[in-house]
Amino acid sequence: MSLNIVVMAAGKGTRMKSGLPKVLHKLAGRALLQHVLGNTAALDADARIVITGHGAEQVEAAVGGEGLRFVRQEPQLGTGHAIQQTVPALVAGGTTLILSGDTPLISTATTRALVEACGGDKLVLLTIEYADPTGYGRIVRGGDGGEQIKAIVEHKDASDAQRRLRECYTGIMAAPTEALKRWVGQLNNNNAQGEYYLTDIVAMAVAEGVSVVGVKTQDETEVLGVNSPSQLAQLERRFQLVQAETLMTAGVRLADPSRFDLRGTLSCGKDVEIDVNCVFEGHVTLGDGVRIGANCVIRNATIGANARIHEFTHIDGEAAGASVGEGALIGPFARLRPGAQLGAEVHIGNFVEVKNSTLAKGAKANHLAYLGDATVGERVNYGAGSITANYDGANKHRTTIGADVHVGSNCVLVAPVTLGDGATIGGGSTITKDVAPGQLAVARGRQTVISGWSRPRKGK
Ligand code: UD1
Ligand code: MG
Repeated sequence: MSLNIVVMAAGKGTRMKSGLPKVLHKLAGRALLQHVLGNTAALDADARIVITGHGAEQVEAAVGGEGLRFVRQEPQLGTGHAIQQTVPALVAGGTTLILSGDTPLISTATTRALVEACGGDKLVLLTIEYADPTGYGRIVRGGDGGEQIKAIVEHKDASDAQRRLRECYTGIMAAPTEALKRWVGQLNNNNAQGEYYLTDIVAMAVAEGVSVVGVKTQDETEVLGVNSPSQLAQLERRFQLVQAETLMTAGVRLADPSRFDLRGTLSCGKDVEIDVNCVFEGHVTLGDGVRIGANCVIRNATIGANARIHEFTHIDGEAAGASVGEGALIGPFARLRPGAQLGAEVHIGNFVEVKNSTLAKGAKANHLAYLGDATVGERVNYGAGSITANYDGANKHRTTIGADVHVGSNCVLVAPVTLGDGATIGGGSTITKDVAPGQLAVARGRQTVISGWSRPRKGK
């Protein structure tokens, strides 16, 4: 039997008060609509249709290329009108699952259950009981025993008695495709909002004798919609707590799950500890025994076993990635950029920036330094204030530093340049030529003497 998945994403989202189409606002680093599509990706659908309208081009560009078909709805005359636009695109003869682009955390399990319950011949509504149902469409039951679903009545059209009903429609349903096409063709807009309500098809199904099934979810988080910045922030925190809980169940020790943010995927080995206020983005891997200090931001990086990332460290591997070797000590206040590849037991201290550079085992740059486009050998000691001058204004050049080289403080290594194994560079040197292995190189500017000045002394 065929399956269509339709995601409604044409609405404006006036209350977000931003220039961005509502469904492109981000939750945990991904657009709301991307969550919906991701959470239903495992369903074996014959067609995946996204209804766009407000900001259609932006929405289509943001989520395109994922086997999706876009159907434009112009103007937006209601959810029933939205589904009317999809009729020619629906694959005949099976089930159509309808979702909202602004309800991002709907689970794969629930959507699968709705599709199964529908079986291509029943109308299945996902419902929930809210303590405060204000604003939602109410599930009206009646008939024999009073339990049969009779209709959905929108809040604005509901009587006082109906407004006291707490069971609400979540905006998510699975319908028999052929009947759905027929029903949406019969909708009118004689209601409080002058809209074509998709929810009016429930009474039509009842009138035709099609069985209407309510599936009640207990999980509020999966059906919460985003209509305002406040709702977006609340849903973000709920989702982060769910992710934190999953990690802690797997044994990761989070100092405070309410101060943890994961915007992507985080895989952790055994015995990993993460202090407060850390943000992980993209794909991050932490090896066994890793410790992450407070206030670190880590994106697209791999951290080796037993490495310590001290407080306030910023690691962003971007597309190239960044890696930290086993037992390395990084930070506090270190910055690792794309292509930083640090070997085992490397030490990178405060205010040190590393970009597109490989550091071999045991190399150290402990204070105030820059290593860009460099290959650094084992046990190198790279002094405070030293930099690789890797950019001549047009091109980048490499600096090669052999094993056991000692670079003093405040050196400028003008690339391309090679320092042979065991070389020593005197503090304050500007190195423009290669230095042979074992050599001492001192290259300082002229000495400046200011006469008549004497240093103040203690006690005088
Ligand atoms: C809808 C339901 C209501 C339910 C609630 C759950 C209807 C008539 N009502 O109400 O019963 O309790 O969701 O959140 O369906 N959209 C379009 N085109 C349109 C109008 C809306 O694509 O012309 C999209 C919106 O972008 C949104 C979704 O449909 O993703 C729901 O629309 P919204 O206006 O939020 O419906 P509600 O009034 O919340
Ligand atoms: Mg809504």
